[in-house]
Amino acid sequence: MPRKPDLEGYIIPGSAEESILREIDPDRLPSHVAVIMDGNGRWAQQRRLPRVAGHRAGIDSVRDIVETSARLGLDVLTLYAFSQENWKRPRAEIRTLMSLLKEYLARELRSLIKNDIRFRVIGRMEDLEASVQRELTKGMDATRDLGGLTFNIALSYGGRTEIVDACRNLVAALLPAALEQARETLRDPAEILRQAIDEASLGRSLYTAGQPDPDLLIRTSGEMRISNFLLWQIAYAEIWVTPTLWPDFRKLELLTAIRDFQKRDRRYGGVRAAGGDEASGGAPVGAGVPGKRRVV
Ligand code: FPP
Repeated sequence: MPRKPDLEGYIIPGSAEESILREIDPDRLPSHVAVIMDGNGRWAQQRRLPRVAGHRAGIDSVRDIVETSARLGLDVLTLYAFSQENWKRPRAEIRTLMSLLKEYLARELRSLIKNDIRFRVIGRMEDLEASVQRELTKGMDATRDLGGLTFNIALSYGGRTEIVDACRNLVAALLPAALEQARETLRDPAEILRQAIDEASLGRSLYTAGQPDPDLLIRTSGEMRISNFLLWQIAYAEIWVTPTLWPDFRKLELLTAIRDFQKRDRRYGGVRAAGGDEASGGAPVGAGVPGKRRVV
């Protein structure tokens, strides 16, 4: 069941946010919003501050966007916090990012629970240092059974790696049964495997298994790149890019992105009949779970 927006007392009457909110149809919200948070370094540079000051300021945006997404009633929010490529950054910057992450979780866990938010990590969590892994596991365990927003944080994440991992895990899971079936039927086990691997089974082997694919992908700081983010899952996502740097990105822009998203014509490769009805289209099957409130 879609959850109802709970914005009472959260959006100030007469504010710019309220006026954008009035243009949003609560029944056609994106189910999953994914965000490439970019521009922390430039934000700091503009203020002659060290880069890490930008990351620290970015935490306030994370807090605001998580709470707004939960109150809007979105099903999933995924934030790209640290890519596999980010390991190339100076050690001191990586250390600060990791301690900011621990600090964020230690401070926010109570509020995540209060807001019914299920916290998840996607990416190669095993690459992170033990104390960070412990804090993340604590957050996931404490929120595992919550039924509101699912908040994915992508850490040591790479889209290509995710697909490779999914293929490896899928083959390993299917192999025993395929060999057994091959023995019983004298069929080629490679052919049995080939038939068992399709978009649906691969989708179920991704980090985001069981979640709807992103409907809306936001990138801050104006760069027109995907940066190895959710490569499989964004097949039909609407992309929205803003020049705003991440530390300045707040609910007003999230609401604006959602308002603009609702104006897009999503055909999923199909065509629209003359009367405006979808003649052939709809979300493709097998790429995750279709959004609960599919927009037309
Ligand atoms: C990109 O800006 C941002 C990151 C690599 C890190 C994002 C991290 C945070 C917002 C803080 C920690 C997150 C959580 C969820 C607690 P950039 O440094 O690449 O900016 P630039 O392109 O201007 O240099």
